[in-house]
Amino acid sequence: MALNRSLKIAPSILSADFANFGAECEAIEAQGADWVHVDVMDGHFVPNITFGPSTCAAIRPHIKTVMDVHLMIAPVDPYIDAFAKAGADVITAHVEAGPHIHRTMQAIRAAGAKAGVALNPGTPASSVEYLLDMVDLVCVMTVNPGFGGQKFIHSQVEKVRQLRAMIGDRPIHIEIDGGVDPTTAPLVAAAGADVLVAGSAVFRGGSVSNPAPYGANIKAIRDAVLSTTV
Ligand code: DX5
Ligand code: ZN
Repeated sequence: MALNRSLKIAPSILSADFANFGAECEAIEAQGADWVHVDVMDGHFVPNITFGPSTCAAIRPHIKTVMDVHLMIAPVDPYIDAFAKAGADVITAHVEAGPHIHRTMQAIRAAGAKAGVALNPGTPASSVEYLLDMVDLVCVMTVNPGFGGQKFIHSQVEKVRQLRAMIGDRPIHIEIDGGVDPTTAPLVAAAGADVLVAGSAVFRGGSVSNPAPYGANIKAIRDAVLSTTV
């Protein structure tokens, strides 16, 4: 079956109200989110700490679409089963997180999830060349991971173009993570990305009790892409 390469907006709950994840997930889905992006940070691989598998399991019943779990942790392998059991649809690990990323991708699929591999801004496209026949998603970090609200790194657009060519007709999503807004989204979509993660640009100005800005923000990103690709 052909992969659906239509544009998908994946709000990152890193920018949500941490005391209210369930309601925040429901609010962004009601406002047009295609996937929900869940950022797991360990204070070791990245200089920030968020939450782990038990939080993912707790928010799972509040997500109807795709639970897209981005692991910014090292080591990764000891925790894959826990995130799969928590209900992750996609589990993404970083190519920089350890020497055995090939084994990590095998383990993610064996646990029953889709396998994603993420590349930091300083890591070349070629680092995933020998993984392309065993992954479902490649995530191009357009900021250095760890925090929301950082500035988009423009040099990564060329990396997306290279990956799109390397991937060819393999059924692999290209996801962009970091600094996505209505200005930068069209650049990466034109280069071949189909999943756009956005934290601050989606949650800005809204809340669970006032979710309409989430919808307007998602629509602004979507419209910016569609108006430049038509
Ligand atoms: C960064 C995270 C991102 C982050 C994106 O380490 O992986 O998902 O939340 O945030 P914005 O869209 O604010 O750059
Ligand atoms: Zn992320």
